[in-house]
Amino acid sequence: MYENRRKTFMEKIAGGVAIFPSALPAMRTHSTEYRYRQDANFYYLTGFDEPEAVCVIAPDHPDHQYILFVRPRVPEQEVWTGKRAGVEGAKEHFGADEAYPIEEFDEKISQYIGKADRLYYGFGADETFNRKIVELLKRYRNQRLREGTGLTTVIDPTEILAEMRLVKEEEELGCIRQAVDISVEAHMAVMRAVRPGMYEYELESLIDSIYRQNGGIGPAFLTIVASGPNATTLHYTTNDCQIRDGDLVLIDAGCEYQYYCGDITRTFPANGKFTDAQRAVYQSVLDVQCEIIESIRPGVSIGDPNQKAVEMLTEAMLKLGLLAGDKEKLIEEQEHRKFYMHSVGHMLGAEVHDVTKTREGEEYKTFQPGMVMTVEPGLYIASDSENVPPEYLGIGVRIEDNILVTESGCEVLTAAVPKTIDEIERLIG
Ligand code: GLY
Ligand code: MN
Repeated sequence: MYENRRKTFMEKIAGGVAIFPSALPAMRTHSTEYRYRQDANFYYLTGFDEPEAVCVIAPDHPDHQYILFVRPRVPEQEVWTGKRAGVEGAKEHFGADEAYPIEEFDEKISQYIGKADRLYYGFGADETFNRKIVELLKRYRNQRLREGTGLTTVIDPTEILAEMRLVKEEEELGCIRQAVDISVEAHMAVMRAVRPGMYEYELESLIDSIYRQNGGIGPAFLTIVASGPNATTLHYTTNDCQIRDGDLVLIDAGCEYQYYCGDITRTFPANGKFTDAQRAVYQSVLDVQCEIIESIRPGVSIGDPNQKAVEMLTEAMLKLGLLAGDKEKLIEEQEHRKFYMHSVGHMLGAEVHDVTKTREGEEYKTFQPGMVMTVEPGLYIASDSENVPPEYLGIGVRIEDNILVTESGCEVLTAAVPKTIDEIERLIG
C-alpha cells in the first residue's frame, strides 16, 4: 500500500526530489510530551511513526528512490522510550531502498538531489528543518551558476498529497470503518448512561475509555460534552459542568484508530424528553441534515452541501423567528452566521479535518465514490442573543454523521446512532 502510494507520488514529481520531515514531538511540560503523532503525509507515504526522521523520494536516482533518515538504535536511549526501527529496520520493515542515521542527513542529501531542478518541500512548523532547506537552496544556487544544474524551484507537495488522499483506498476505508464503529459504540453508551445530575466529564471519560478499550489510540480531537448553553460554544471542551434536568447535551466525539478518524455529533435531552422549544430547533437541524445527506452522490459539486445548508438553515431561522426579513438578503448580509457559523462538513481521513483537495482552480470538484466526509449542520442560539423568542435562548444543536460516497449515492457510516426524536427519546427515556 505504501509502496503503491510512493509510486504514484513519484510519477507526479518526476524530475524532482521530495523531502518530508517527520512531525515534531509536542511538549506538554518542559520534560513531558504529548503522545507522538506522525505527520499525516509522512505517514501516508511511509507507515513510519517515529519522530526525528526524514523521508526522501528521489525518482531519478539510479539506485535509491526511497530513502529514510532515522534515529539509530541506541540501547541506552531505547531503555527510556522504547525500541526503534533503526537503520536496518527502516530498510527491512519499511521498505526503504537505503537508510541512514538522521545525523547524516546534511552529508548524504546532496547525492539524492543530484541534478534535480525542483524540490518538493512544504515549509512547516519545524523551523530548524526549514532553515536546513534554505541553506540547501543557497548551496544549489551557487552550483547552478557554476555547473548549469541544481535546484531552482521549491514546490509544496501538499497539494499532490491532498489530491491523492481525497479518494480513500480499501485499506483506508477499513480503518475508517473501525474508527467510526468505535465512535458509534461510544455515542450509544453515553446516550444510555446520561442522567441529569451527572457531570459532563463523566460522559467524556466513558467515551474516551471506550475508544481505548477497543484499540483506538484515543480521541481524534478533544471530546466535546456540552450541556445546556455550553452547546452554543462550537468547540466547548472544558466539560466540567453538572448536567441539569431539562438540558440538552451536545456530544461531538470521534475515535482515532490506526491513524484514521471518526467524528460524530449527537444532541439529546439529558432527561430523555425534548421540550417543545428544543424539539423545534432539533427537528429543523435534522431536516436539513437528512436532506443534505440525501443529495450527496457522484457528480454533485462538493460545494453544494454548504450552499444548501445556508439556504435551508436560514429558512429554519425565519420559521423559528430567530431572524426576520428576506432570506436572500439575510444570507447576503451574513445574518445567518449569528446562529450558524461553520461549514456543513469536512473531509474525514487521517486527519479529522482531512487535508484534501476539493477544488480545481476556484471550481469545486464533484463527489466521487470513495470520498469520506462529515455532514454536520447546527443551530446555536447563545443565551445573550437579542431579538429571539426567549424559549430558544441557550439552545445549541448539531447533528453530525460520517458518510462514504458510493457509486449510486452515499452510505451513512454512523447510521446506528439514533437521531430521530422518537429514537432518541426511546433510547434515553
Ligand atoms: N468535530 C469537530 C469538528 O469537526 O470541528
Ligand atoms: Mn466534524
